[in-house]
Amino acid sequence: MLSQELNELLTRTGPGTPMGDAMRRYWMPALLSRELEPDGSPRRVRLLGEQLVAFRSTGGRIGLLDEFCAHRRTSLFLGRNEEDGLRCIYHGWKYDVDGNCVEMMNEPEALSFLKKVRQTSYPTVEMGGLVWAYMGPPERKPALPKFAWTQVPESHRHVSRIGEECNWLQGLEGGMDNSHAPILHRLLTTSANTGGVDGAVPFARGKVLKLDHDVTDYGFRYAGIRPLGSEGSYVRTYHFVMPFTQIRPAQFSNRSDEPQRPQVHGHMWVPMDDENCMVYNWKYSYGEEPLSEEDRLENHDGNGPEFADEANDFRPFYHPRNGWQQDREAQRTVSFSGIRGVNTQDRAVQESMGSIMDRSKEHLGPTDRMIIATRNRLVQAVGIVQDGGEPPGVGDSYYQAKGIETILPQGVEWREALLDEMYSK
Ligand code: FES
Ligand SMILES: [Fe+2]
Repeated sequence: MLSQELNELLTRTGPGTPMGDAMRRYWMPALLSRELEPDGSPRRVRLLGEQLVAFRSTGGRIGLLDEFCAHRRTSLFLGRNEEDGLRCIYHGWKYDVDGNCVEMMNEPEALSFLKKVRQTSYPTVEMGGLVWAYMGPPERKPALPKFAWTQVPESHRHVSRIGEECNWLQGLEGGMDNSHAPILHRLLTTSANTGGVDGAVPFARGKVLKLDHDVTDYGFRYAGIRPLGSEGSYVRTYHFVMPFTQIRPAQFSNRSDEPQRPQVHGHMWVPMDDENCMVYNWKYSYGEEPLSEEDRLENHDGNGPEFADEANDFRPFYHPRNGWQQDREAQRTVSFSGIRGVNTQDRAVQESMGSIMDRSKEHLGPTDRMIIATRNRLVQAVGIVQDGGEPPGVGDSYYQAKGIETILPQGVEWREALLDEMYSK
């Protein structure tokens, strides 16, 4: 349970809020690289309650500017992306990628006036197929977001995004919530094609969940341990990287008929504003094999083109206003939820809590320990930033962090067996 006060502190990320100040110390995914072409259409970006517009210049550089023109606040989303700048269509003021006003069509002679005008702009970097933005103090820029998945060849990685209609912390906590997976995502029949966990995989078989974690300088690492009797224990190890990334193991498929594979998956729950977040879903192969077309389609995950409306800011097709297209007949016969796609199921339960859930009314049990650990780390980071310090996760210590899952013989401790592999190249 959280006090109303702490709930407010953790969920609000707009300019000038304590959590907003902490968030602004990290690189934030803003959109996919492929959404921006040189001189192509600009895209709207909503991040931490700020309304921005992104474009790629003739020379290939990316501009991320305040959406509203410095002249009379017309949306630059309507603008013309031409010759290394974005031009407002109202009076023709033109801005370069750094936010300098370089031309005024209605004040052609007013050179000194032009030099005084600046449009807010944020630095960006492209990595792993994403455009990342930094919205904090220029002198406190963190290390580049070189997550391992961003450093493998394009053939071996995939990233997608999909909107979620609730506060970012609900999404993150839903990811950190370990005990729900074999329940919410359960399939009632092994032939089901709706996305879910079939009853024969180890983590659906191990009923009791034990959790263990170590605080690290990027957040924490943890293990979910499910005893399997004489077989030993099924262990999944994860990382929480501040402020909103979860790295999870994916060597075992959710389907018992699929082979093991050298993959790691993860999500980032990025605040758009206090009532909406953008979920970035990434996966990579660290073996010889590239990702398959099926891996990229994400049909079982519920994040691909059949689930997110790319032409409409990646808004989900399955959402609260259509009841997530829950199929009651399928709920009786096919899957526990009757909802299509594993992450659609996640978004449904998270969005069903309301825009900002009231954590003063919750009852957390022992399997919710990682949710508490996450909140503690976030509250600490807010305090550190308010005291002028460097919050956890702005260095490079998470670059090689991997999630690993395996079955360990009885009596073998997870750190002893898996720690090296959890940070291996
Ligand atoms: S409002 Fe943009 S140029 Fe006038
Ligand atoms: Fe889930």
